[in-house]
Amino acid sequence: MEAPIKLGMIGCGGIAKAHLRACMQLSHLFRIVACCDVRKEAAEKSAESAGNALVFTDYREMLSHADIDAVDITLPHHLHAEVAIAAAEAGKHVLVEKPMANNLAEAKSMVDAADKYGVTLMVAQSQRYMAEHREIKRLLNEKVIGQILYVRASVDQHLAAIRPLGDWLFKRSLAGGGSVISIGVHKIDLLRWLVGEIVAVFAVERQSPINPGMDCEDISVAILEFENGAVADLASLYAAKASPWSELLAIYGTEGVIHNIGGWHINSDKVSEWKGKFAKLEIQPEDPFRNELEHFGNCLLSEHEPLTSGHDNLKTMAVIEAIYLSAREQSRVELSEVMAT
Ligand SMILES: NC(=O)c1ccc[n+]([C@@H]2O[C@H](COP(=O)([O-])OP(=O)(O)OC[C@H]3O[C@@H](n4cnc5c(N)ncnc54)[C@H](O)[C@@H]3O)[C@@H](O)[C@H]2O)c1
Repeated sequence: MEAPIKLGMIGCGGIAKAHLRACMQLSHLFRIVACCDVRKEAAEKSAESAGNALVFTDYREMLSHADIDAVDITLPHHLHAEVAIAAAEAGKHVLVEKPMANNLAEAKSMVDAADKYGVTLMVAQSQRYMAEHREIKRLLNEKVIGQILYVRASVDQHLAAIRPLGDWLFKRSLAGGGSVISIGVHKIDLLRWLVGEIVAVFAVERQSPINPGMDCEDISVAILEFENGAVADLASLYAAKASPWSELLAIYGTEGVIHNIGGWHINSDKVSEWKGKFAKLEIQPEDPFRNELEHFGNCLLSEHEPLTSGHDNLKTMAVIEAIYLSAREQSRVELSEVMAT
């Protein structure tokens, strides 16, 4: 394939704007040639911003009529599998927003389709493409805080304060679940990358009264056990009333700690300037959407497997599935049980 890659955007809502902006900055890699949304005016607006791209309201029409190499899917979760599979059947490479699908079975069918039709499937797990997390990963790889023992992570939002009541994110059938699959997914995927593979989980969930009309969990607390012996607790909250959007990550090792409380800080016995105190890590932020799209484009041109490939992200989907199963059955769930189903 040659650059610029001809891209079709499917879904022109909230996050699509960040993808579109990133593609426009990466004009050496991408040319957006078609935009699709069931809301015609949204597709038209994106198409205009992209510079006269074709407009579609039906993704199947777009797949059969537009001259595109790849699609960028930024749709409600229940449509990810259906659209990604149709795109793969049409021979188009696929970038799909997180979470990969509504559930693990759908995610597996996406991987099968991508393999069958020989196309690349990448999941837009934006947190792995943040400069801060790339630097933390480098420090952890260098064992600056020794062996990882324990991680505390949380994502706090109040859904009813940030989305209109009745939005698809309130519905299990459209989103695949609540706070775990929609926002906890960010930390599950990130922790798999930073800490290691998760082998077992134990979770408790609640449905609070502060998200009217929501039919799934808005509070989940999960204990995650890692293959390397580390343990984490992850709180996925859509019921964090009056809380600003906040995300906690604190990683405790045998020789130090890294946390993001009030900015990224490190305390390490191994580095004299970081010993016995919390030193601020100065990390220049980057646009994760630009980074993830750049990675997608470069992988297509070089025929490399993306960092957050469909194959890789089956494990993220399996952890989500295990958290839901554990909360339902009130028992510890091993990932091997879930992956085997
Ligand atoms: N990486 C991140 O930080 C991040 C942040 C927000 C959302 N997301 C993810 O991005 C995806 C989209 O979320 P959003 O917040 O942009 O949602 P949104 O509701 O703002 O946008 C979804 C768009 O899809 C369109 N749509 C619905 N059905 C369609 C169909 N059949 N064909 C074509 N278009 C259709 C809607 O009209 C809407 O414009 C989700 O997977 C979400 O989890 C990721």
